[in-house]
Amino acid sequence: MQRDGANTSLWQHQVEDYPSRQGSLDGQQFDVIIVGGGVTGITTALQLQKAGKKVLVAESHHLCFGTTGGTTAHLNSFLDKSYDDIEKDFGEDAAQLVVSATGKALELYRSNIEEYQIDCDYRQKDGYLYAVTDEQSEKLDSIFEASVRAGVEVVRSERIPVPVEFKKAIVYREQAQVHPAKYVYGLAKAFEAAGGVIMQNCHVNDVVESDEMVVADTSLGPVKGTYLIYATHIPPGINLLHFRCAPYRSYAIAVELKSGDYPDGLAYDMFDPYHYYRTHETADKKYLVIGGEDHKTGHEKFTDSCFAQLEAHARSYFDVGTVAFRWSSQFFEPADGLPYIGLLPGSTGNILVATGYSGIGMICSHISALLLTDLIMKKENAYAALFNPNRVKPVAGFANFVKENVDVVTEFFEKRLEAEKIEGLNELAPGEARVVRYEGKKLAVYKDPQGKVYAVNPVCTHAKCVVSWNGSEKSWDCPCHGARYDLDGKVLTGPARKGLEPVSIDVFHKHST
Ligand code: FES
Repeated sequence: MQRDGANTSLWQHQVEDYPSRQGSLDGQQFDVIIVGGGVTGITTALQLQKAGKKVLVAESHHLCFGTTGGTTAHLNSFLDKSYDDIEKDFGEDAAQLVVSATGKALELYRSNIEEYQIDCDYRQKDGYLYAVTDEQSEKLDSIFEASVRAGVEVVRSERIPVPVEFKKAIVYREQAQVHPAKYVYGLAKAFEAAGGVIMQNCHVNDVVESDEMVVADTSLGPVKGTYLIYATHIPPGINLLHFRCAPYRSYAIAVELKSGDYPDGLAYDMFDPYHYYRTHETADKKYLVIGGEDHKTGHEKFTDSCFAQLEAHARSYFDVGTVAFRWSSQFFEPADGLPYIGLLPGSTGNILVATGYSGIGMICSHISALLLTDLIMKKENAYAALFNPNRVKPVAGFANFVKENVDVVTEFFEKRLEAEKIEGLNELAPGEARVVRYEGKKLAVYKDPQGKVYAVNPVCTHAKCVVSWNGSEKSWDCPCHGARYDLDGKVLTGPARKGLEPVSIDVFHKHST
């Protein structure tokens, strides 16, 4: 299965690309067009199709190409924003609503798996949160008390499933884990069997909303819908939500342990960023999957070092044999800590969105599927106001939060550049990349291990920030709102719709004229 980076996740290795259907969308009409074939898109699509709507999923690559193929797939009854912080910022009622919403999301996993008999390595597990310092212990007490008040099933624990010395721990009952791609493929099959349409390699170039109608200009032709949902992790185009969500990268490794003694539960420490642990079992192998080392997208110069640190962390607690897989993926941190699910800011009523999932996208995807379905079916939903993307919730530190943007520029290149004029090109080692200068302008250049040079205009097509090199995933990542591009400049991850402009390097230019 293909993904949006050079590394291979544990899940990718175990499944093929979802089969594509051929055809054109030209002139077709649907009740709902869902853009994005990850866990949010497919789960929502199935809910809506079952509710009687005619639904299209348009995915610009393949199902699970984005973050769904790179999540570690913990299913929790809590969010990254802890219950005490939710109480503090939104009130006790909000904390209770979150307990109820996560409970319904977990229930939807269980009922989908049972109804469609999806073989997706689903396992119910306890989830342990533990403190290793006094300060963390104090925070853990506060989280525990707020969790109890909110009504989630949680108790104190004298043990944790990982060999780490800890001071205090709590355990959330009846959490779960899953193989995300197998689960999504199972739902996709059920969706198609119910009459839904999935078009892969179908890029949505533009969307025009008019009264009661949305027209999507796709690479497979124009298509009409009564509603359109952006299940693309962050909506494309320029939107208020780009200033309320910051893109982050998170790292994961799957290791085999010499002892064969794998954790029997899910576990989380309380550092910032925190580490997260689970076990994954196949017919003949077991893996410990550890994640962490998060950083803002485009803000880490040596992304390989994040894997090195994660591995060092793993080796300090576990008898690691082989590191079988390593991969990274993207998530979006919302300004006030809660996801944005509902009407897209600026939409007149027909475009919906789900974003700002933090590190708990698998559970947010199912909260979204239920909420978006209710909104379209015009049914009451208790969580609509809490997760409304148009909510105005001034939060302390918000000004700092949006101060992500750097270096906004406009630059323009000729299609062919002379190699001699590119400063620093000769010093670039094979396998290295850099933003260099050409006649005073910036140019993003990568030299592959064979010495072939790939050059692109480094100005992000979304809002004109300059991209940074992600050495471990071999991609150009935008530090502003998280767009990512491959070596040729093609879009891997929104919000950009258009790729970076490719530039040819004319090594013989001087001699041939
Ligand atoms: Fe917004 Fe690049 S993603 S400027």
